[in-house]
Amino acid sequence: MLEVSDLKAFYGHSCALKGVSFNVPEGGFLAVLGRNGVGKTTLMRALLGLADRDEGQIVLDGAQLSGLPTHRRAHAGIGYVPQGRGILPTFSVRENLKLGTFARKSGDDREIDDRVFELFPMLKEFLDRPGGNLSGGQQQQLAIARAMLARPKVILLDEPAEGIQPNIVEQIEGAITTLNREMGITIVLVEQDISFARRASKTFALMEKGQLVASGQIDELSDELVQRHMAI
Ligand SMILES: Nc1ncnc2c1ncn2[C@@H]1O[C@H](COP(=O)(O)OP(=O)(O)O)[C@@H](O)[C@H]1O
Ligand SMILES: [Mg+2]
Repeated sequence: MLEVSDLKAFYGHSCALKGVSFNVPEGGFLAVLGRNGVGKTTLMRALLGLADRDEGQIVLDGAQLSGLPTHRRAHAGIGYVPQGRGILPTFSVRENLKLGTFARKSGDDREIDDRVFELFPMLKEFLDRPGGNLSGGQQQQLAIARAMLARPKVILLDEPAEGIQPNIVEQIEGAITTLNREMGITIVLVEQDISFARRASKTFALMEKGQLVASGQIDELSDELVQRHMAI
């Protein structure tokens, strides 16, 4: 269970996240929705300790994460697929995957689990290519595989379908659904396109100006709410 209460985050003196609270149960799937600039990425970064400063409580399976440095939050079980993917372009696919294994708890092995190749067979073919030579969609698959390799309890995904060809988007959505439904990994997904959120997630949280303005079960996400908080 991920329990977040009154989470705030700052860029310098400016408060971009103004006290956000939500819970995601183990195996849950929360879609974080909202227009550009409302603070979705800031929320992900605050959960990981990557904002300039964050305040509030972040508890994962009873362990307090607030105040801890990013690597300790990763070891506690939070994986991250950042907006724009964040793979290392000059490192090979194998090296990028290896990096994921270093976010495991200390004492764990550093094997690249076959599961990632079952989910993304393309990665096995391209193990020795530089990450930067892959297409956008392939890099996104690499970023998700890297996050999986930390064996996290929760994966935060920030707009994984952004700028990716429709045929690959389907594959990526399938993989995210598999992570949640078959592997039992808790998912927090940031999305602008609500159709995937409606298909895959169990709950939603809508943001405006650094705050949550609505939340609930995904089937309670009415067209009226979408119109009010997401239409441009
Ligand atoms: N590095 C930064 N420095 C200062 N302000 C930032 C920075 N990153 C984001 N912001 C501001 O914080 C707010 C939320 O941004 P962000 O979390 O990226 O929104 P979203 O992901 O929902 O599009 C915006 O007003 C944005 O201008
Ligand atoms: Mg963003």
